[in-house]
Amino acid sequence: MEKKRSNFTGQLGFILAAAGSAVGLGNIWRFPYLAAKDGGGVFLLVYIILAVTFGFTLLATEISIGRKTKQSPLTAYKKINKHWGGIGIIACIVPVMIMPYYCVIGGWILKYLQTYICFQGPQAATDEFFPGFITSYAEPIIWLVVFLVMTALVVFTGVDKGIERFSKILMPILLVLIIGISVYSLFITHTEEDGTVRSGLEGFRIYIIPDFSSMTFQRFMEILMDALGQLFFSISVAMGIMITYGSYTTKETNLMKSVNQIEIFDTIVAMLAGMMIIPAVYAFSGREGMAKGGPALMFNSLPKVFDSMGVTGYIIGTVFFLIVTFAAVTSSVSIMEAIVSSLMDKFKWSRKKSCIIVFAYAVILGVIVCLGYNLFYFEFKLPTGETAQILDIFDYVSNKLLMPVVALLTCLLIGWVAKPKTVIDELTMNGERFYRKWLYIIMIKFIAPALLFVLLVQALGVFNPF
Ligand code: PHE
Repeated sequence: MEKKRSNFTGQLGFILAAAGSAVGLGNIWRFPYLAAKDGGGVFLLVYIILAVTFGFTLLATEISIGRKTKQSPLTAYKKINKHWGGIGIIACIVPVMIMPYYCVIGGWILKYLQTYICFQGPQAATDEFFPGFITSYAEPIIWLVVFLVMTALVVFTGVDKGIERFSKILMPILLVLIIGISVYSLFITHTEEDGTVRSGLEGFRIYIIPDFSSMTFQRFMEILMDALGQLFFSISVAMGIMITYGSYTTKETNLMKSVNQIEIFDTIVAMLAGMMIIPAVYAFSGREGMAKGGPALMFNSLPKVFDSMGVTGYIIGTVFFLIVTFAAVTSSVSIMEAIVSSLMDKFKWSRKKSCIIVFAYAVILGVIVCLGYNLFYFEFKLPTGETAQILDIFDYVSNKLLMPVVALLTCLLIGWVAKPKTVIDELTMNGERFYRKWLYIIMIKFIAPALLFVLLVQALGVFNPF
C-alpha cells in the first residue's frame, strides 16, 4: 500500500497543491458574503487574528499528522492513538457532506463562464439573472454534472500528475487578476435614481476599518463564529484533506514554511476577493445590499462590475470566471481526493472504482441540492435562527457542526493525549525553527478547544449563553 501512494515531486508542488485546495470558492464566494453580512471591518480583523493563531495551529497539526503517519484520515488518527480512530471517521464524513454542494456552486461558476463566453455579460448583470438561473430545473443540474466530470477526471489521473500541474500555472494568474479587479472596483461610482451617489472607495472603508460603535456582545459572538466556520472551510482543515496531502509529502519538505505560505496565500486571496466584491456591492446596492446578499452576493454583484467596464468587461469577465473555475476545481479535486483515497485505503478498491462511486454519489446529492431551489424548496429554520435551503443545511452541518467536532477532538488528542511534542517534533525534524511554539502549545491545549466548544454550543442552539 505504501508503494502505491502518490507523492508530490517537491516542496513547491506540495505548497501549490495544498494552496490550490485551500484557495477556492471559500475565498472568492464565501468569504466576501460573510464579510458583507457581518458588516466588514470587524469580521476582517477577527478573521485575520484567528488565521494566524487558530488557523495556523490546525493547519500545522493536520499536515504533521499526515506526514508522520503516512496514512489517510480514516486510519491516521488511529495510528496516533488507537482509541481515537473515531475522529477519522467523522473527518471523512465532512468532505462527503461538502462535495455535493461545492460542486453545485462550481456549476454556477461554469454557467457564468459560458454566459461571458457567449457575450451575454449584460444579461448576467441584471437582478433577475441569478434567481432565474438557480430556480430553473435543467440548467443548474447540467452545469453541476459538467463540473463533476472535470473534477473526477483530475482525481482519476492521480495527485502527482493532475493537481500539481494544474496549480502551478493557475494560482499566480488568479492572484494577478483579483488584484486588478479589486483596484478597479475601488473607483466605481454609482448614482441611484433618487440621486444618491455611492463610491467603491466608501465601501472599501467599510470593509477595512472595524467599526465597534454599535457592537453588542451577541453580535460580536456571531461574527466570531462566522469567522471561525469560514476559517475551517477556507484552509481546508477539519476534514482530513490536509492529512491526506501531508501524507504525500516527503520527509525533507519544510513543513513549517509550507504551513506559513499556504496560510498567507489563502488569507491574502480571501482579503482581496472581499476587496474586489464588497466595494462594488456597496456602490451598487448600499449597506442593505451587503447585509442581504447571502450566497448570491458574488453572482449578483460582479457582473455589474464587469458591465460597468464596457467592452473590456467581457474579456475580464471571461478570464475571471475561467480562473475561478480552475480555483474551484483544484479545491473540489482535493475534496474528492480525500474521499477517494479513504475508500482506496479502507476497502482496497482501485482508484477507478472509488472515483466512479464517489462521482455517482455526488451527482445524486448534487441534484437534490439543485432542486432545493425549486421542487424541494422550503424554508427551514436552523438552530441558529437563520432560514435555510438544502444547500445551506449542508453548509451548516459541515461547517458549524462536524468540522468543529473534528477540530475539537483533534486538539484534545494532540494537546492532551499524544501531547503537542508529537506535532512539534514532526515540524522541526529537519532542524526548522519554530517561532510560534508557545503560541502553538497554548492554542492547541486551551484556547482552540474553548473556542470550538463555544462554537458548537452556539451552533446547536441548545442554549444560548449570550
Ligand atoms: N478550502 C476550499 C475553499 O476555500 C474549499 C474546500 C473545502 C476545500 C473543503 C477542501 C475541502 O474553497
